[in-house]
Order: sequence, then structure tokens, then C-alpha cells
Amino acid sequence: MRTRISVIGAGMVGGSCAQRLAERTYADVVLLDVVEGLARGKALDILQSLPVVGSDARVLGTSSYEDVRGSEVVVVTSGVARKPGMTREDLVLMNKKVISEVSERIAHVAPDSIIVMVTNPLDAMVQLALHVTGFPRTKVIGQSGILDAARLRTFIAAELGVSVSSVTAYILGGHGNTMVALPRLSMVGGVPLTDLLPPERVQALVDRAVNGGAEIVQLLQSGSAYYAPAAAAVSMVDAIVLDRKEIVPCAVRLEGEYGIGGVVVGVMVQLGAAGVEQILQLALTDEEAAALLRSADSVRETVSAMGY
Ligand code: 2OP
Repeated sequence: MRTRISVIGAGMVGGSCAQRLAERTYADVVLLDVVEGLARGKALDILQSLPVVGSDARVLGTSSYEDVRGSEVVVVTSGVARKPGMTREDLVLMNKKVISEVSERIAHVAPDSIIVMVTNPLDAMVQLALHVTGFPRTKVIGQSGILDAARLRTFIAAELGVSVSSVTAYILGGHGNTMVALPRLSMVGGVPLTDLLPPERVQALVDRAVNGGAEIVQLLQSGSAYYAPAAAAVSMVDAIVLDRKEIVPCAVRLEGEYGIGGVVVGVMVQLGAAGVEQILQLALTDEEAAALLRSADSVRETVSAMGY
């Protein structure tokens, strides 16, 4: 039987994830939305693109969770996106209801799956899905740090006129304004970024990356970013399905790592067939460690707004 990947929510992020996954060829894709026509229409459109790009993946649009049964990975994108002037945290009560229901359905039809969460506020939604499904923390993973770091890599590469593939960058913490960029560990062809640019330029690039989502919300005026969030989520699916053992920043519930317990934040993890196979603890400076604690506290606040 071919591997099945399901994407819940056929909005802009969900549709973009389904397209990228179908083009991968390694799995069949189920795109589910409560609005059945939306899921079926997008799935059919993606399916009809595959002869052009050379993929034999099957793509099914549906509103029935029965079609999700047997999925290896389920990418959750349902819920509402923020509007200009809103923070991701402002979405918590609206998306709590949606993600509770989606998580319950997934636990029922795909109890052995790995969930890749994309819905905001990201860390709180991972925490909610863990609570509702009862899945281990290794199998409910949030997409955040890959996107945030990709934004920083984009701006560093453009500033220095080098390939994005020559730039590494790491962002930990919650997927909100308290996220913790680590420019000290950023490398450009093996040379520390901090040796290449003055501190104020580095800070300007970090600030733009941290506000990267809001900048796009402001430009779009309706809805938030989707190409880059989808690319990041699909790279996590790649790491899991292909058992790549990739080391990337993802949101996971910490149980004592970095002195943080019982809360979801972004940290470096190893992603493979079992989901989060290892949580890596970077040697942070006192200042970075304090910023990570503050970020965890801010996620705790958002979670407590849900009544947990
Ligand atoms: C972003 O940062 C939507 O949270 C997503 O663009």
C-alpha cells in the first residue's frame, strides 16, 4: 500500500501543502475540509497538474475523516488566519474549538499517525492537540522554527548577495513576538554572521524575520502567509516519511529540557520516521536562555487563556 499523507483544511496553506506533497510522488494525498467542494475542487486541480510535473500520486478531496484512516502523517492547517493588526495569540479562542474537534477526529481514525501542526497560535495548538489526542510528545510537532529561520536566511542571503543554501540560521522559542533568534550561531559559508555584518544590521535582519509573518499579513490585507509555511510543513513531512533524521527547529513539548517543563516551544530536534527522535539542547548564553524562558512563559499565558 502506498503511504498516505492527509492535510486537514483546504485553505491557502492546506492547498499549498497538498500541491507540494503531491509533487513529491512518495505518497498519496488526502485533502480534507468541512467545505467539501473546496477540498474536492483543489484536489482535482492538483491531480490534473500531476501529468505535467510527472507524479503518479493520487490526490483525494473529501470532507470525510474515513479517508484519513491509515495516514502516516496528518498536517493540520484548519482554523482562521490573523488579520492586519492581530497577533497570532488573538486567534486562540477561535481556533481552540476547531483544533479540538480536528484532533479528536484524527485520534479516532489515525491513532498511529504523526501530526504536523500549522494552525496558530502554533505552540498552544500543539499543546491542545497533545491534550485531546493523548499522543506522545514525539508525535505532535509544530511547524514554526523552520519557517522563522527560513525568513532570516532569506534576508541574510539577500543582504550579503550569497546563495540561501550557504546560510544557516536558527530561531527557537514560541512562534510569536517572543521568538528567540540566535544570530550568534548563524553561519555564512562557515563564517559567523556576526563577523560579516555590524550588530545593528544583524539586529535589523532579525527584527524583519521575527515580524516576517506580520509583514505579509499587512501586505495581503486578508489572510496570512502560505507559500513559506507550507514549504516548511512539507519539509517536516519529508523528514518523517523519508526518515531523514534531519535536525531542525520545531515546536515540541519540553519536559525539563532547558529547564522548561510542560509547555510547547520551538527547539532543535531530530526528525525521522518516529517523529521527534531526539531533542537537542544547544549551549545558550545566559541572555539567550533567559529569552527562551520568557518565550515559554508567553506560550503558557496563551495556553491558560484556553483554560488548560
Ligand atoms: C506566519 O508566520 C502564518 O504563522 C504564520 O506567517
